[in-house]
Amino acid sequence: MLKDNHGRRINYLRLAVTDRCNLRCNYCMPAEGIAFSKQEHLLSLQDMQFISRSLIEMGIDKIRLTGGEPFVRKEVPLLLDFLAEQKGLKHLSITTNATLIGPYIDRFKDWGLDEVNISLDAIDAESFKRITRRDQFDLVMENIHKLIDAGIHVKINCVVLTGQNQDQLVPMVNYMKELPVVVRFLEEMPFNGGSRDLSPGHWNYKKILEHLQEHLGTLEEEVVPLTATSREFKIEGYRCTLGVIPAYSRTFCANCNRLRITAKGEVITCLYGKGQLQLRDVLRRPNGEEEFASLMQNVLLRRAKDGFEAEKEHQEKVFGSSMTSLGG
Ligand code: GTP
Ligand code: 5AD
Ligand code: SF4
Repeated sequence: MLKDNHGRRINYLRLAVTDRCNLRCNYCMPAEGIAFSKQEHLLSLQDMQFISRSLIEMGIDKIRLTGGEPFVRKEVPLLLDFLAEQKGLKHLSITTNATLIGPYIDRFKDWGLDEVNISLDAIDAESFKRITRRDQFDLVMENIHKLIDAGIHVKINCVVLTGQNQDQLVPMVNYMKELPVVVRFLEEMPFNGGSRDLSPGHWNYKKILEHLQEHLGTLEEEVVPLTATSREFKIEGYRCTLGVIPAYSRTFCANCNRLRITAKGEVITCLYGKGQLQLRDVLRRPNGEEEFASLMQNVLLRRAKDGFEAEKEHQEKVFGSSMTSLGG
């Protein structure tokens, strides 16, 4: 079992396979994109396979592939083939914008990919296009339905964007009402690649909850694991469940079980923290693979107890960057 210096079990790896994306969500990056990494600076497929297998041997039992948009990276199906074979892996999941997954959905179950989080910030084509700067709404909805029909557990991530999509929240829940999905509303964080300031009057989780309660009736809170990022709720008569992620106004440090590896191979032990180790460099040293386990152990033994507080200074810098460089 992998533990950090504060006794927290670390079992969840968020592995970013690319920082590129085919959408241009305005809260994530400017229209022209960000300075994306060059291919030669990314972890290779072999690096990602080695890292995943080694970390599973060390105690990681949940891997979420993130990006950017993971399916922009052509090798993702090969990585999934590999991960599907890893016996110690109990949960394999992915966070995707659902635009490119169509041709692969019938392989998801074989990959053991039975939980998929979809970023969807609007429930009408026009708002979707305005926010993502791309006209892909129908394709996304078609793929969401295909996933549900394939029996895959879908969580919708909707970032609440002040002045942009508050009018979408209730219609989104109503659309999903009869479906077996979780609709999660995320507080917007200032990870936007410098594209815009966080709007004044930014809706925090309390405001989001009040709004939902006002329009949808009583929300009955459900018990979730201590490590969960969301608070979850049921509404009588609704098949879907609701979630609210207080990503900005709360920290999840006390029970944080997450380890992040960026597409370039930086190990990050706190969303707000600096890179702790450059794995691409490590794996290119003559004894890199032999050193890997002890280097990773050492990184986990230097974790701040309260990353949000400890990284206050660094946060300023991170907040100017995009979620795509961090892997969400
Ligand atoms: P599950 O495995 O389904 O619980 O997913 P997840 O919530 O871990 O993953 P997802 O990729 O759907 O991330 C949703 C959002 O949760 C992220 O974009 C962040 O806004 C928030 N989040 C995840 N981890 C952290 C964290 O360590 N700190 C903060 N502040 N927010 C986080
Ligand atoms: N604030 C909150 N959530 C964000 N995401 C991307 N950028 C931001 C931001 N600035 C979300 C995506 C995805 C998840 C991993 O992070 O919508 O669902
Ligand atoms: Fe792409 Fe997700 Fe960023 Fe939108 S929020 S541009 S889908 S990485």
